[in-house]
Amino acid sequence: MDYFVIQGGKRLRGTIKISGSKNAALPIMAATLMCSEPVVLRNIPDLSDIEYMVTILEKLGVRVDRLEPGTMRFEVVDESISHADYETVRKMRASVCVMGPLLGKRLHARVAMPGGCSIGTRPIDLHLKGFEALGADVDLIEGGDVDCQAEKLEGSEIFLGGHFGSSVTATANVMMAAVFAEGTTVLESAACEPEVEDLANFLVAMGANITGQGSPRIVIEGVDRLDGGEYTIIPDRIEAGTFMVAAAITNSELRLENCRTAHLMAATKVLEDVGVFVEKDNGDVIISSSRLLQPVEITTQPYPGFPTDLQAQFMTLLSLAEGNSVITEKIFPDRFLHVAELNRMGAKLRKEGPIVIVEGVKRLIGAPVMASDLRASAALVLAGLVARGTTEINRVYHIDRGYERIEEKLNAVGAEIHRLDR
Ligand code: UD1
Repeated sequence: MDYFVIQGGKRLRGTIKISGSKNAALPIMAATLMCSEPVVLRNIPDLSDIEYMVTILEKLGVRVDRLEPGTMRFEVVDESISHADYETVRKMRASVCVMGPLLGKRLHARVAMPGGCSIGTRPIDLHLKGFEALGADVDLIEGGDVDCQAEKLEGSEIFLGGHFGSSVTATANVMMAAVFAEGTTVLESAACEPEVEDLANFLVAMGANITGQGSPRIVIEGVDRLDGGEYTIIPDRIEAGTFMVAAAITNSELRLENCRTAHLMAATKVLEDVGVFVEKDNGDVIISSSRLLQPVEITTQPYPGFPTDLQAQFMTLLSLAEGNSVITEKIFPDRFLHVAELNRMGAKLRKEGPIVIVEGVKRLIGAPVMASDLRASAALVLAGLVARGTTEINRVYHIDRGYERIEEKLNAVGAEIHRLDR
């Protein structure tokens, strides 16, 4: 199993190219199930989660060809299987994204209920409520599978808000199912995340009739078919935000290429409040820092608020601020597995329910730590970059799920991260 050994204390300097968005690519790849002609997708990141999605799609009758790095061709060749089993789904929660396309196109989706995960219980009640509102029969059947069937789907007005606000994959799933539903579907309290907007833009490019994407009210007029074509996935705002913190925390200057600066507003605002310089230059972002970090308060919120997927990375940053910060997690209240690991490296973090009080310390110290989930692992890499001495991060397969060759990208700008195997 791979692990990282990071020699801390190196200054970073140079340019990093941001990869395509994982969370946009996964549902867009799933949406190719709905297309009657071949689809070519560009800017697909090279990640293990993407490989899982390829495997799932192949099992569901899609022929996938890798044309060149970052570009894949998808063609549906067999529509007879609509079952994504537990073996497939348990490896990646985002495999639930195939439900909407299967139900919409094949009028049948059988998908294993995703279990809990390391960032807490993650229900799919909103997805299922949406499918039912479109006229599907939804049953939990033997083997822990959810079975959704319909003779036909009909447009409906659907309120998609939940206890924690809107849901990204529920919006994606119900929007996809509604593409072929007869008449008009209105999704209220839809997720506004750029990844949902990108999915809608992809569907429109293939022939769907969708308006309002990027806002909490999405309107879908049913169409008979989606064709094929080419589409380029948006850049990954979470990868960009992670490297912004890498520059800020190491007292360095980095240029990030291929960003959508509009998607980085919440992270940029916090960094500026912390005292980091963020400059925009033609789609690139330049971050420089003198590492005199001011403490701040952060609350995670649905987009355009501060993303939960950057909460852990910013906690590492604020560990080194000149005073006390407060981080409140409003999306996944249990998403704090990094707290204990960062404390092992000398951070002073106190968790009280969904809030963490971050007492700034002068330095972090290298230690062996355990990656627990994707973003928590990124937070540990950032801590390792700045810590005194050597940090060993175990279970880096979590990082490989969502960051394309993170050690190569950081080493190219001056970090010292070794990937080893034992
Ligand atoms: C997506 C992202 C993930 C990100 C999260 C929040 C993908 C593949 N993953 O996850 O990286 O951290 O958005 O921005 O895009 N909820 C319900 N019922 C549901 C669905 C969700 O109560 O049916 C709750 C969740 O438990 C959570 C909140 O709603 O508290 C938001 O979750 P959601 O937006 O659905 O997250 P994901 O789409 O799973």
